[in-house]
Amino acid sequence: RCSDLNAELGGNPKRSSWGPPALPVEPALYDRPFPFYRRPAEVGRFSLDAQRCYHGDARQLRYFAPPATMHPTPPFDLRHGYRDRYVRRDEGLREGLEHLLRWTAQNQERLRAKDDIAGRPLNADFVTWRGHLTKVLTTPYERQEGWLLAVSLFRGTLYISEEETPATQLQREQRSETLKELTYMGYKFERYMCADTPDGSPDPTGVVNTNEAFCTVVRTRLGSHSLLFAGEVDCTDPCGPWAEPPACYIELKTCKELHSPAQRRSFYRYKLIKWWAQSFLPGVSRIMAGFRAPDGSVVALETFETMKIFQLIRDDPSCWKPAVCMNFCEAFLAFLKRVVTEDDPHLVHLFAWEPGHPVSYTRHHGGEHVFLPTWYVETMSG
Ligand code: A3P
Ligand code: MG
Ligand code: MG
Repeated sequence: RCSDLNAELGGNPKRSSWGPPALPVEPALYDRPFPFYRRPAEVGRFSLDAQRCYHGDARQLRYFAPPATMHPTPPFDLRHGYRDRYVRRDEGLREGLEHLLRWTAQNQERLRAKDDIAGRPLNADFVTWRGHLTKVLTTPYERQEGWLLAVSLFRGTLYISEEETPATQLQREQRSETLKELTYMGYKFERYMCADTPDGSPDPTGVVNTNEAFCTVVRTRLGSHSLLFAGEVDCTDPCGPWAEPPACYIELKTCKELHSPAQRRSFYRYKLIKWWAQSFLPGVSRIMAGFRAPDGSVVALETFETMKIFQLIRDDPSCWKPAVCMNFCEAFLAFLKRVVTEDDPHLVHLFAWEPGHPVSYTRHHGGEHVFLPTWYVETMSG
């Protein structure tokens, strides 16, 4: 059984003599040619409004409206409004897959495969948030933050939902004032770069409300795994070189100003991997970075084409490799398929990873880890 498993997962999983198999994460094990990844296709959109209410439309989509030059003058003030124009989403509320499942339930007809021999209501092996997959992609290179992913098999589809680790919860609850302001600045940058209408201009005096979100739902395939996932998108550029979604979307990011080649290298190594993974997965073609000075002003803008990021890092042998990230993700999904075989929405396998360790899991029936809502199970069973 163990050797079958090894063969199936590319020779990687290790079974200790007393426990269940675990998936190693060392980059060298996944340093193979880039796996097949189908160009992501947008299959739907939804929005979350200022009260965090779901709407099955694109009402929250915003439009890319950059300044005339890459050195905005007067510079954007990312601190502006932090004290009095900031409505913060309640991060203590665990939404899980709720909004995505709502979209899925409302779009069942289009998601059903006519010739699916398994008779699945959903023609996808995996359903999840893009952000969860981003964490999987960067795992072989991550040295600080672990993760917990809950997985249930329900009517032929594996659902992946994140649980907060105790360390992340503590960090969130004890976040320093400086860090809170930095988070705000990331959202404020979006206000300076986007308009509410295709021909509009940004209104940086408005309120920053982090309940608001526009999400794209995409379908794609990684190796033998079909994926359906949703991801939050910052804005669209209908006049850019790629007119169609998801390629017309632009991801906005902020980063500390870089002063030396060494700082730039370090930015490529530790930060650009996350930016790349986040945008590559849903097929977002461009990332625009705002580099900020200590006073919160944006001193320069820079565009990164997602598909060209590998060129920036390929000559640095100690840097990350896109192929390692994707091969690891493929192996992780194969691992889930191998481990989670009982079709039961009340059964949860909790996959845990901490830096320096392989991915391991525990099994839970019923109780606090169950994440597929009853309304969803009933709807999809009908
Ligand atoms: P930056 O991206 O400039 O860091 P996103 O870039 O994914 O659209 O997210 C927008 C902003 O939300 C981020 O701006 C950051 O301020 C905040 N943010 C996103 N993920 C976060 C996380 N895990 N912890 C804290 N803040 C986060
Ligand atoms: Mg965003
Ligand atoms: Mg962003």
